[in-house]
Amino acid sequence: MKVGIIGSGGREHAICYAVKKSKKVDEIYCFPGNAGTHDIAINVDLNISDFESLNQFINEKKIDIIIVGPEKPLVDGVVDFLKKNKVNVFGPNQIASKLEGSKIFTKNLCKKFNIPTANFGIFKNVEKSIDFLNKSKFPLVVKADGLAAGKGVYICENKIDGEYAIKEIFNGKFGKANELLIEEFLSGEEMSFFVISDGVNIKQFGTAQDHKRVGEGDIGLNTGGMGAYSPSRLESDELNKKILDKIILPTLKGLREDFKTNFVGFLYAGLMIKNNEPYLIEYNVRMGDPECQTILPRLETNFFEVIKATIEQKLDAINLSWSNEKCLSIVQCSRGYPGTYENNQEIKNLDKVNLKMNEYIFHAGTKIKNSKIISNGGRVLNFVCKSNSFKECREIILGLINKIGWKKGFYRKDIGHKVIDK
Ligand code: AMP
Ligand code: GLY
Repeated sequence: MKVGIIGSGGREHAICYAVKKSKKVDEIYCFPGNAGTHDIAINVDLNISDFESLNQFINEKKIDIIIVGPEKPLVDGVVDFLKKNKVNVFGPNQIASKLEGSKIFTKNLCKKFNIPTANFGIFKNVEKSIDFLNKSKFPLVVKADGLAAGKGVYICENKIDGEYAIKEIFNGKFGKANELLIEEFLSGEEMSFFVISDGVNIKQFGTAQDHKRVGEGDIGLNTGGMGAYSPSRLESDELNKKILDKIILPTLKGLREDFKTNFVGFLYAGLMIKNNEPYLIEYNVRMGDPECQTILPRLETNFFEVIKATIEQKLDAINLSWSNEKCLSIVQCSRGYPGTYENNQEIKNLDKVNLKMNEYIFHAGTKIKNSKIISNGGRVLNFVCKSNSFKECREIILGLINKIGWKKGFYRKDIGHKVIDK
């Protein structure tokens, strides 16, 4: 069969690698992919916002299944478009993707279906937002409604921070804003919880914890994710059940009842756990990046069969089995990220590293130019290791990063500190 993967990050390289393992898969296309997927698939340099061209290519090559990695095409309705054109596609439709595309949509759903989340208010202009700040206790959280690549969330310690956030959002930092969200600050420990659904059946798809801040000790600016580990140290059968019963199932019910739609694909709940009770912080309608790079290596079931069964609405026939081992990833980024950085920096030595079993390098912002691998983004390489202990994973990864010795990159040495440095 022929499989197409939309996206170009570490998540998509990890998905590509997992799909490649299936004997049923003859050919993989990545739209547009990176230097890592180039080795195992055919990269197609095509604008993924141009759904017409995408569909034309899929038809020409007779691609059997399309997997959508990132949120933007999902929120823009790529699944609806391709389905209308009779393409088999893995991912949620445009309405269901609003769970990530609009924080206000999700908050309203939480309210109506009694899903535990931070208390919140929705405000339509600067004056009303600031009025609310005047009556509030701090810290509190100000959020832009739409997609903001992880940057539209402001944790505000005082009124000055709050006013700054409100003004930035209404001044259009994340696109035109008609409304914003102000919510209560939740304390506790975060956890990323994943499920996969075919619209009828639903299965857990692992847990993880990512490190969003750029600096060691979890300080500094927010990023897309500097590293992650799986499973979360909070995972337990009791907590899993609470998350399903109180958060995931009511959400899917809400989508069905109020929006007449089912959810197909990966649903990623960003949670705060306090006193062993889950609260929803946000939804993503896809796998996490870099969480995916730590979850897929732990999956023992054939990944392509899982995707195929989901598209065919036969997920009930699949028995997901997971390794008990731990998995950790460290992301090497371009110096300057998440601020400004230079692209086109050559990365040498990648071909000189002999990866052992359970060691992986998933590419993100890389491409090939004149037969050389060069950087092409803020997050560049994901070093991943699976082993019996998080500590060993991290040591092995730091060794690999050293061997490559890319001088234009930086990374955090403390990924997984909560589960390692006790
Ligand atoms: P989000 O993009 O909504 O996941 O927010 C990014 C990060 O901001 C989360 O991973 C949390 O660390 C933090 N955050 C968001 N909302 C809250 C909240 N209500 N209370 C505490 N932290 C929050
Ligand atoms: N690592 C966070 C995300 O994928 O949204």
